[in-house]
Amino acid sequence: VRPSLTDEQFARVSALLHDLAGLAPGAGVDGGRRDALALTVAGRLSATGLADADTYVLRLAKDTTEQRALLEDTLVGETYFWRNGPQMTALREDLLPRLMRAATAQGRRLLAWSAGCSSGEETYTLAMMLSEMMGRRAGATVRVVGSDISRRALSAAREGVYGARSLAYLDPARRSRWLEPVPGDRWRVGEELRALVEFHEHNLVTDPAPWRDEVDLVLCRNVTIYFERPTTQEVVARLREALRPGGLLVLGHSETLWKLAGGFALLRSGDAFAYRKDGPGVSLVGPGPSPAAARVAASPRPRVRVPSAAGVRPRAPAPTTSAAPGGGPRVAAGPTLLDQAQRAQEAGDYATAARFAVAAADANPLDERAHYLHGLALASQGRLDAAVPELRRAVFVDPKSGFSHFLLASVLRGLGDGGAAASYRAAADTLGHRPADEIAPELGGRSISELTGLCLRLAGGGV
Ligand SMILES: C[S@@+](CC[C@H](N)C(=O)[O-])C[C@H]1O[C@@H](n2cnc3c(N)ncnc32)[C@H](O)[C@@H]1O
Repeated sequence: VRPSLTDEQFARVSALLHDLAGLAPGAGVDGGRRDALALTVAGRLSATGLADADTYVLRLAKDTTEQRALLEDTLVGETYFWRNGPQMTALREDLLPRLMRAATAQGRRLLAWSAGCSSGEETYTLAMMLSEMMGRRAGATVRVVGSDISRRALSAAREGVYGARSLAYLDPARRSRWLEPVPGDRWRVGEELRALVEFHEHNLVTDPAPWRDEVDLVLCRNVTIYFERPTTQEVVARLREALRPGGLLVLGHSETLWKLAGGFALLRSGDAFAYRKDGPGVSLVGPGPSPAAARVAASPRPRVRVPSAAGVRPRAPAPTTSAAPGGGPRVAAGPTLLDQAQRAQEAGDYATAARFAVAAADANPLDERAHYLHGLALASQGRLDAAVPELRRAVFVDPKSGFSHFLLASVLRGLGDGGAAASYRAAADTLGHRPADEIAPELGGRSISELTGLCLRLAGGGV
């Protein structure tokens, strides 16, 4: 017999779930179907050995342990790594670098909160992106917190062992980089990510905001779909309270803040949206070209020796005297260290160049040029393997840096890595933002259009 609930039973159980977690009547049970709640109750009946739904409803009223058990069985924890491609691209290439630049300029750690994190995939995804961006400096510059009402989900999050379903959208290279295989076709999150991440129990509907004006990014995706509008409004107001002015809220793909909450400005990033908390300081994460991208547009630049698998000799960008990333105060040591790295590189003293570039990146981890020069110095020593992550960091920090894409492509090509094609394409795309007839002294005196054509040929895309 298919389990069912009377109107009275349904009303009581729904009211309890609403009180406990803000769940809309019949929500959290796939499509809000009453049948699904009946099924969950039937499961609880067999787990408790109680005779029928009436007895169960009576027990539920006074037994908080059973209330929790019912809640755990009702919550929908569907989640996976790298969920929603457009949002991931926006976070990785635009939103997180902006926020990180602002945090660095203010000399503080970035705080990211995955609210309603379920079993942790979203939280670890954020940690992965930030780690790829900050390298070994992530530990000192980044804090990622996951929270959920479900203790079962949190325990899975802390265990951090996942199967194929969770990992289906994570590219295999990332999976191998950040997780290790364990018996039973499962993967365990590695220590590097664990060190950045913490998990806490938190009820978004009944608990106060855990922070005030402190959080840079809140990811609260696919959580408010289980709430009614007034509950969602309260939750969003609390998330806003936690955000620092200029901080960003990213909701799920289908959730919208339209006419739902004041105090946010809509920010478009590619095919995704974020909501920026109004208030002082917003300019720090405001739109506009990144300082690194602006620097690339500057010329002329001194010549440096560059290994070039493509037979082209890119030059490093010139030392900058511009503001630090994020438009904030200058990091005094940065330009000097970069100057020295550049000079050593030009003199062919690649080991020294690498040392200065590392120091520059330590002083300002979001300086694309520091990573670029470090990658360049490593590649010049023939250390192509070591150059790759450094150059990836450079393009991560400034995805519009055609020179970094180009050098990364050359190094990957030298390694026989199939990823070279994509990097050449990215180089062509980003170099293509400049006037086609502009001469690029940095890259062997060729015109941008000539160079772009070369990148396209090497990408296998023809000219
Ligand atoms: C579908 S999952 C979303 C997971 C992840 N954010 C994502 O998008 O992949 C929804 C999560 O919201 C949590 N949740 C529901 N109500 C909540 C509440 N009142 N407070 C905190 N978390 C809640 C559930 O436990 C569940 O883990």
